[in-house]
Amino acid sequence: MKHLLSAGDLSRDEALQILDTAEELRSLADRPIKKLPTLRGRTVVNLFFEDSTRTRISFEAAAKRLSADVINFSAKGSSVTKGESLKDTALTLEAMGADAVVVRHWASGAPHRLAGTGWIRGSVLNAGDGTHEHPTQALLDAFTMRRHLGSLEGRRIAVVGDVLHSRVARSNVLLLATLGAEVTLVGPPTLLPVGVEGWTCDTSYDLDSVLSKTDAVMMLRVQKERMNDAFFPSAREYSRRYGLDSARMAMLPDHALVMHPGPMNRGMEISADVADSTRSVIVEQVTNGVAVRMAVLYLLLAGAPDTQEDS
Ligand code: CP
Repeated sequence: MKHLLSAGDLSRDEALQILDTAEELRSLADRPIKKLPTLRGRTVVNLFFEDSTRTRISFEAAAKRLSADVINFSAKGSSVTKGESLKDTALTLEAMGADAVVVRHWASGAPHRLAGTGWIRGSVLNAGDGTHEHPTQALLDAFTMRRHLGSLEGRRIAVVGDVLHSRVARSNVLLLATLGAEVTLVGPPTLLPVGVEGWTCDTSYDLDSVLSKTDAVMMLRVQKERMNDAFFPSAREYSRRYGLDSARMAMLPDHALVMHPGPMNRGMEISADVADSTRSVIVEQVTNGVAVRMAVLYLLLAGAPDTQEDS
C-alpha cells in the first residue's frame, strides 16, 4: 500500500494490521518518552485547503512522535489565495522533498488527483476530501469501538444525521462493512444521499426505532457550510427528530457507545449533557486518532525507499 485514499481500498487484513499497529503505538502515550526514531529523516507535509483542528494537529503529532520532519501548509495565507493551482502547489512541495503528503481539500477526489498524476512521488493520505471520504477518521472510529466492544464482527452501528454531506459516514460504511459490522444510516430523507440504497448498509428515517438495537451511535455534524439555506433544517425541528439527548441516550443498551467525529454542534445533533456523559467516547476518539495516524504513517513510510536519494 503506497497511498491511503479510501477506506474501501483496505482489505480486512490491511485494516486489522493498521488497528493492531495503532494498539501497540497507543501504549507509547503512557510512557515518559513518547517518541520513536522510526521516520527520522522523512518529511511529512500537511497540505490543508480546508479548516481542521483534530485531523491536522493529530497528523502533526503522529509524524513528530515518529521523529519525522513536519511541514504545515494551510491554503489561507499561501499563494493559493493568489490563484496558484493544486498542481503548482503540489510541484512546489515535491521540490522541497515530501515523503508523504496529508491532504485535506474541499474538492472530492483531490487526493486521488495528487496520487494519480505523478505531481507527488511520495505517499498521499486523504485527510478528508469534500463530501467524499475521510479514511483515517473511519479507522480511528473503528479503533475506538474495538477497544470497548472487542471484535466488530456482527456489531450494530448507527450513523446518524447529515449523511449527505458527510465524508465520515461514507468511509465508516466502507470500513465497517470490511470489518463485519452492520451499519444503519439514520437521517431525514433530504440528508441521505441519492444512491444510498447501493451502499453496504441499512437506512432508516426513524432514530428512536434504531437506538435499542445499537452497540454504538455515531452522531454526525450538520454541515451548515455545505448547505443551501433553503435546505437547512431548523435547529429545533432537527434536534427534535434526530438529536441525541438524554432521553434518547436512555434507549441505548447499557454497553453502547456515544460517538461524534467532531466538531460538534452542541444542542443540535447532540445535547451538551450527552456529549459530556460517561457514555461518550468523543474525547477518546481524538486521543486514538494520534495512534491510528502514527500506524498509517509507519506502515506507509517505514522501510519504503527514500525518494530523496532516488532523485
Ligand atoms: N473529525 C475531523 O475531521 O475534525 P477536524 O475537521 O477538526 O479535523
